[in-house]
Amino acid sequence: MGPSVLTRSFPRVDGRVLCGEVPLEDLADQFGTPLFVYDLAWIRGRVAAFDDAFAGADPLVAYSVKANGNLTLLRELEAVGCGADITSGGELFRARSAEIDPSKIVFAGVGKSEDEIAYALDERIYAFNVESRSELERIERVASERGETARFGIRVNPNVLATTPHKYTATGHSDTKFGVPWEETRALYRWALDRPALSPIGIDVHIGSQIVDPDPYVRALDRVLTVVADLRTEGVPLEYLDIGGGFGISYGHGPALDIVALASEIVPRVVDAGLRLVLEPGRSLVGEAGVFLTRVQYVKVGGPKTFVIVDGGMSELIRPSHYGGYHAIEPAGPIDGRQAIVVDVVGPVCETGDFLALDRSIPEPREGELLAVHTSGAYGFSMASNYNGRLRPAEVLVDGADVRVVRRRETYQDLIRGEV
Ligand SMILES: Cc1ncc(COP(=O)(O)O)c(C=O)c1O
Repeated sequence: MGPSVLTRSFPRVDGRVLCGEVPLEDLADQFGTPLFVYDLAWIRGRVAAFDDAFAGADPLVAYSVKANGNLTLLRELEAVGCGADITSGGELFRARSAEIDPSKIVFAGVGKSEDEIAYALDERIYAFNVESRSELERIERVASERGETARFGIRVNPNVLATTPHKYTATGHSDTKFGVPWEETRALYRWALDRPALSPIGIDVHIGSQIVDPDPYVRALDRVLTVVADLRTEGVPLEYLDIGGGFGISYGHGPALDIVALASEIVPRVVDAGLRLVLEPGRSLVGEAGVFLTRVQYVKVGGPKTFVIVDGGMSELIRPSHYGGYHAIEPAGPIDGRQAIVVDVVGPVCETGDFLALDRSIPEPREGELLAVHTSGAYGFSMASNYNGRLRPAEVLVDGADVRVVRRRETYQDLIRGEV
């Protein structure tokens, strides 16, 4: 089922919000709260939408594992043909544990360690996306010591400022730590050409996250393609162009990026350049497929404020407090004509910054009620922590009427595992 059929994840049917065919309230009753719930049909629909939109450019959809690295989710993504964009040895381990084909794995990140580089070489990943000269020198050394050749692309910093909801999620301009400075790019490829342990096969750009306008992608791509032409004439055998991820979704307010419109700009350019396209979608595959379920513990009125204190907070879903992320919140069960009131939805963590929503208008919440925090499939569990001695929640994957626990809830024993 593609998004054209499924127009809203988690529809409200007969007063109750569903995932697939299953009421969220039933899942919370069965598995407890707080709880992450993912809708597999939605994820498959999103992968199909990317495959279709970019079909002309022989796309490799390298799912960005950082968005949600759950093993079963990765296996399901592998089953529909996805590769992986990884940023650490740990994510490589996850991707390989899910049997993602190493020839579909690209490795980004500004701080790759020697061990991580060696591990990626051993696994024979498709390519390193290199973020500095020092990193490329290190990759060359590690690869030549092992008698191997490292395939790589340079992640260029095109100095394109994309509008993102928060400055922490813009990465394509020159005062961020990401990518090789534009002016150094050509020289670095030339340096690599003489090195048998290095094989330059691609070029990469990632300008930020939650971008809803195709224009900055097109500007970044056009910049990168000027370098591609020069490099080709100098004998650099480029085969892929990686446009990164960051494709914006609707968090319940504001537009989403139109990937068909984006593809209509990107595909012809990449095809004309004789390259294959690599895409690194993270949130755009799994974000809307996830909901975070949390139960109201107390409703507390303090001065002008009404605080709805729920059993999940920044330790499970840090986006609101970390970069002002917006998540639509609604009761998972019947609303029964209740009036909306303005509240702060806050968690149990001892931080003033522990909130899921501030000054939000929602149907007057009741103690014991289940709330659905939408669009929590990406950067939810993957950024969760044990801060304040909190147990990380269970994760449940729903496929129609089929329900699977894909990660069990942590126990107190898990909190001290590994400590001496
Ligand atoms: C290099 C790279 N690729 C892909 C992504 C995925 O971004 P998103 O989940 O917004 O698609 C990120 C996010 O930080 C990234 O840094």
